[in-house]
Amino acid sequence: MSKANIKKGGVEWVYSDQVKDHFFNPRNIVLEEKPRFKPDGMGKVGSPACGDVMKVWIKVDPKTRKITKCKWQTFGCASAIASTSMMSVMVTEKGGMTIEEAKKLTPQKILKRLHGLPPFKVHCSVLGDQAIKEAIKAYEKK
Ligand code: FES
Repeated sequence: MSKANIKKGGVEWVYSDQVKDHFFNPRNIVLEEKPRFKPDGMGKVGSPACGDVMKVWIKVDPKTRKITKCKWQTFGCASAIASTSMMSVMVTEKGGMTIEEAKKLTPQKILKRLHGLPPFKVHCSVLGDQAIKEAIKAYEKK
């Protein structure tokens, strides 16, 4: 940790309040082996940078093609947890994104809502985005 991050009397967090909130209170996380609903699509990806794994499950309204549920699970770090938690909120908030809208989601949009991540942690934020894209592909193959 650089000197710039060390405060008198303690260590300053390098993470934004939004990242801390989603890390300590992850939304839509699955703590059991799998989610308690029958998913319409599942995506699983691994990070070549660190070897961590991310799984995402989605439920889609067949009439509106909106994502009604997005649950996830990971062995990844705090940044992966926070960014995937935020991603799961973004795709399901306000009635949910359509499949077409969710395909346009980018790690940059997730990072913006999180008020950024340290540069060396950006690779963690792509895991949730990649996993939901795989879940969407699986849904469309059905
Ligand atoms: Fe592996 Fe962050 S270091 S997901």
